[in-house]
Amino acid sequence: MDKYIIKGGTRLLGRVQVSGAKNAAVAILPAVLVSDEPCIIENLPMVSDVTDIIDIMTVLGAGIEFIDKRTVRVDATGVLSGGVPIEKARGIRAAYYFLGALLSRDRRASVPMPGGDDIGTRPIDQHLKVFSALGCDCDVEYGIVGIKAKKNLSGARIFFDIVTVGATINAMLAAVKTPGQTTLENVAKEPHIVDVANFLNSLGADIRGAGTDVIKVRGVNFLHGGSYSIVPDQIEAGTYMAAAAATEGDILIEGVIPKHLESITDKIRLSGATVEEYDDAIRVRGDKKISPVSIKTMPHPGFPTDMQSQMTALLCRASGTSVVTESIWDSRFKYVDELRRMGAKIQVDGKVAVVEGVERLTGAPVRMPDIRAGAALIIAALTADGTSEIDDIYHIERGYEDVVDKFKGLGADIEQIFIPDEVTKRAL
Ligand code: EPU
Repeated sequence: MDKYIIKGGTRLLGRVQVSGAKNAAVAILPAVLVSDEPCIIENLPMVSDVTDIIDIMTVLGAGIEFIDKRTVRVDATGVLSGGVPIEKARGIRAAYYFLGALLSRDRRASVPMPGGDDIGTRPIDQHLKVFSALGCDCDVEYGIVGIKAKKNLSGARIFFDIVTVGATINAMLAAVKTPGQTTLENVAKEPHIVDVANFLNSLGADIRGAGTDVIKVRGVNFLHGGSYSIVPDQIEAGTYMAAAAATEGDILIEGVIPKHLESITDKIRLSGATVEEYDDAIRVRGDKKISPVSIKTMPHPGFPTDMQSQMTALLCRASGTSVVTESIWDSRFKYVDELRRMGAKIQVDGKVAVVEGVERLTGAPVRMPDIRAGAALIIAALTADGTSEIDDIYHIERGYEDVVDKFKGLGADIEQIFIPDEVTKRAL
């Protein structure tokens, strides 16, 4: 029942350190299950999606030991006899990585149909296409996805019908120890695809081409242990970039890979902010005047769908009209109703939002419909006149580490408060 109370109107100033990438962490942790020796994973963001994945691995039977706040040692060398709990799988999309990882080690896997954010239909046909091509029977019965090797798994050529992050990673997990060569075509190229490939290669895998349209995986028999540090989160970095631009702020965002941020940097610059790139930091200085910008989300290296709502929040106060087109997800504009409560003028028609800039937003009670929309509402609230109350903050806690402290460190007037519900009130 916690909420954020945000008083708008402060320019964000100072430095912020970016955490490890959530979407890399939730793939690399399950990937450890494929290793024949223990592994140490560093720079994990401590967010609820990551702790949920760790909980699932514990239930499966992996040994997990925290070395420090963001470093775990995972020993999955024994028999894993537990199952993926349905309530965990329903809450987290990345539960599908246990299909590829468990198939790789046990030649079979059964995982409850994964859930995740309500941002459009989320089929797994491309994941199943991979498992079938490698030699599995696949079915979905009673809400459980079951895959089982018919005889021996063997390498195959797979052309994806659609560019998909999850199925590309699952294919690498499934193929890493599959005899022969697996060629994956029309794959996703996001930084976390490369990070998973780098992690597996650091253990002795033979994966080439990650970051291009074609990935070739030669199956190996054995993966040794190792230590690996998760790549910085480009979406968290982009969120602070948008926040700096929206609040006429001046922020140095540290611990980033500027190359991963190119498409975001381009749009932030077009909105009128100044962006300076350093080796592992990026500085954004917002301008009083925000220019309208048109955006179309695309797979990497295009503009990421996971930054669409934060940019829309910035463009709400642009001096002119912006067009934002979502081309990855069917319904990722649910937060627009919430921005309208704050005075934004946005028309949505299917996958296109027309954002007519207004001079000012005003604080309002709003709810987060999903994680990135949550980040957008924080940005909007920071720029609004008056106070906003933001509910359903568990969404943002899924993927933004220490979000309140990080914004406070930049001077934001943000507090997290506990509002007891009727039942809790009676118990107090
Ligand atoms: N798709 C299919 N069939 C499939 C798989 C995907 O049709 O078998 C479609 C989806 O419906 C969607 C498109 O392909 O229209 C792309 O889906 P993708 O598989 O790339 O998405 P995902 O792996 O489920 C990951 C991120 C999302 C991010 C997308 C796109 C994780 C855990 N999630 O999802 O992140 O939006 O890639 O970049 O990595 C977020 O962090 O806020 C988030 C939603």
